Amino acid sequence: MSTTSFDLTGRVALVTGASRGIGRALADGLAGAGATVVLGGRDPDRLADARAALAADRDTAVHTRAFDVTDEEAVTAAVDALTAVHGGIDILVNNAGIQHRRALLDLDLADWDAVLRTDLTSAFVVGRAAARGMVERGHGAIVNVCSVQSELARPSIAPYAAAKGGLRNLTRAMTAEWAAHGVRVNGLAPGYLRTELTAPLAADPDFDAWVRTRTPAGRWGEVGDLVGPAVFLASDAASFVSGQVLYVDGGMTSVV
Ligand SMILES: NC(=O)c1ccc[n+]([C@@H]2O[C@H](COP(=O)([O-])OP(=O)(O)OC[C@H]3O[C@@H](n4cnc5c(N)ncnc54)[C@H](OP(=O)(O)O)[C@@H]3O)[C@@H](O)[C@H]2O)c1
Repeated sequence: MSTTSFDLTGRVALVTGASRGIGRALADGLAGAGATVVLGGRDPDRLADARAALAADRDTAVHTRAFDVTDEEAVTAAVDALTAVHGGIDILVNNAGIQHRRALLDLDLADWDAVLRTDLTSAFVVGRAAARGMVERGHGAIVNVCSVQSELARPSIAPYAAAKGGLRNLTRAMTAEWAAHGVRVNGLAPGYLRTELTAPLAADPDFDAWVRTRTPAGRWGEVGDLVGPAVFLASDAASFVSGQVLYVDGGMTSVV
């Protein structure tokens, strides 16, 4: 095996939630490995800013497509349009996600539904739309962005933990149905990283100290820590890796 198997030249990658944070870093990493990338997100202006920043650094093509991953019609239209323009989607990163912190006893059903729709159901809706073309062409790679909460729970984030645990098993269910058609589906599970999603936690000195002591590596993760693992899972270097969740968490899920 040579490192050329990590090369993504000629592949088209759609990354949802790529206007900032982890999604943007993963899109940048996939572009760095040679892929043509499409940044997804709801806000066209944020996407345009992200594209300008990435395209300035990369000579590979960077495109945008604004759509809401919880809107089935919009997802279908986006995947159809990308397929028409680029000839198909080779790599899908289901990354878009939200958090809602509230004790279970005080949690409204509407907020539960919003987290489940964004963090779990979207991976089915976008994954199904992209996988139809992948199955037809006989190849594709899907990376579902999971979490340490795919394995563990904490007070106040029950819908998130339920969604990310479900995403872990959806990764296996997709593998059960699509692996025979050349479509590899894996999970990438970050530990705690500083992004907009975790800003309230990082700003809390007690939580910050908890993360540092609870993580064997002794620090918060950086979005760049996820790039190598994501490129690996998306590339031919992982040609026989299917249905796995790769924890990139500084050891957090290995210790109590
Ligand atoms: N940060 C961490 O420590 C951490 C740890 C483990 C897992 N994760 C997971 O990693 C993923 C990214 O997290 P992050 O920290 O980078 O979050 P973030 O900074 O809040 O970014 C979230 C991204 O998702 C997009 N998004 C949200 N709802 C959407 C929707 N309905 N349709 C389309 N796009 C939507 C946002 O763009 P718009 O608002 O413009 O739509 C944004 O680009 C999430 O799945 C999260 O659960 C994060």
